Amino acid sequence: MSADIQSRPPAGGTQIPSAHTAIRVALGSRSYEVLIGPGLIAAAGELVTARLTAARCGIVTDANVAAAGQLARLRSSLEAAGLHADTEIVAPGEGTKSFPVLARLSERLLEMRLERGDLVVALGGGVVGDLAGFAASIVRRGMRFVQVPTTLLAQVDSSVGGKTGINTTQGKNLVGAFHQPSLVLADIDALATLPAREFRAGYVEAAKFGLLGDAQYFGWLERNAASVFAREPAALTHAIAVAVQGKADIVARDETETGERMLLNLGHTFGHALEAWAGFSDRLLHGEAIAIGICQAFRISQQLNLIGNNSVARVEQHFTALGLPTRVADIPGADPPEPARLLEIMGQDKKVRAGRLTLILARGIGEAFITRDVAADTVRAFLAAEICR
Ligand SMILES: NC(=O)c1ccc[n+]([C@@H]2O[C@H](COP(=O)([O-])OP(=O)(O)OC[C@H]3O[C@@H](n4cnc5c(N)ncnc54)[C@H](O)[C@@H]3O)[C@@H](O)[C@H]2O)c1
Ligand SMILES: [Zn+2]
Repeated sequence: MSADIQSRPPAGGTQIPSAHTAIRVALGSRSYEVLIGPGLIAAAGELVTARLTAARCGIVTDANVAAAGQLARLRSSLEAAGLHADTEIVAPGEGTKSFPVLARLSERLLEMRLERGDLVVALGGGVVGDLAGFAASIVRRGMRFVQVPTTLLAQVDSSVGGKTGINTTQGKNLVGAFHQPSLVLADIDALATLPAREFRAGYVEAAKFGLLGDAQYFGWLERNAASVFAREPAALTHAIAVAVQGKADIVARDETETGERMLLNLGHTFGHALEAWAGFSDRLLHGEAIAIGICQAFRISQQLNLIGNNSVARVEQHFTALGLPTRVADIPGADPPEPARLLEIMGQDKKVRAGRLTLILARGIGEAFITRDVAADTVRAFLAAEICR
């Protein structure tokens, strides 16, 4: 199975977006399209009704996205296309991915009188997408949902692939379900209001796709990052589309992460440990932690003589030039983490199987691989040296 990328020519009419890219995530009867480009929220009503039959929608969003004007735009487009739309606005932030908010949201979706044929619409970043997608997977034993991602991270990564869930006191994303969306509308216009720091952090997940399996794409990013960061429509659409294509291909081959999909965790074993240590706070955003984690994965690969220092330098230089952290010392605040504590957090990670740490290492740019062969002592010594740098 594979995913197809195709460009759609500009269409006429006021509601139809001028140009967008369509990527198909090929999962048999659960296949769906990811549309990427400008104007998709304004055209959401037509785009949804052309593909899915439903009478009602329950839009889930957060207060920032609502304030940025995206909610009103989406709602009026859905209603103009004859869909009845109700809305639930949740508080922004990672704390929203919780049992209490999930319980409240599930009841709200029932209060909206959504039936199994109706749609949950997640309008927001990864927090809203993960929460609303999980609610959709359990309410009425499973409802279809549409992802309308509004952060760069959600557009390149979290809205595609069907991982949904919430956090518990034991850790992040430990309760959830695989539940694929029925459609993803990644409207690049929504990114106009995204704070620069969030945009930069989300970009790391795009670069990750180049670093794990597509050296050509990483080279393109090195040459075109300025246009992407200037949010030029063509460059932004291309950057998102290639990353989504990469994810779609991997998800089509390994939907439930029994093998190859683990490659998408490049930088995440190290990165999650730093994020947990920093208390999942504004001190270190997810993408920033992953930037450091990816650099660490490349540096330990170099230490294990798997990769030359040129590749490591390219990754570090690219992130540094964009204002991203590459080392633990780049995290603001005085107290450095304890290597033993980081290793302990890494040991609680979902990526541990039969007591062995699963690491994603690299033999070059675009050549990541999965290994369980690195001893915990080696990782501990590496982390100790890293923290002293
Ligand atoms: N399901 C997956 O496969 C997957 C993959 C990666 C990450 N995630 C999850 O995604 C979450 C992080 O997602 P995120 O980085 O999008 O964070 P987020 O959803 O918290 O959004 C970041 C911030 O930007 C605001 N925002 C969103 N869109 C905006 C817009 N257009 N304009 C202005 N402000 C806007 C939000 O209110 C929030 O304050 C984490 O919980 C992570 O676990 C899931
Ligand atoms: Zn991530």
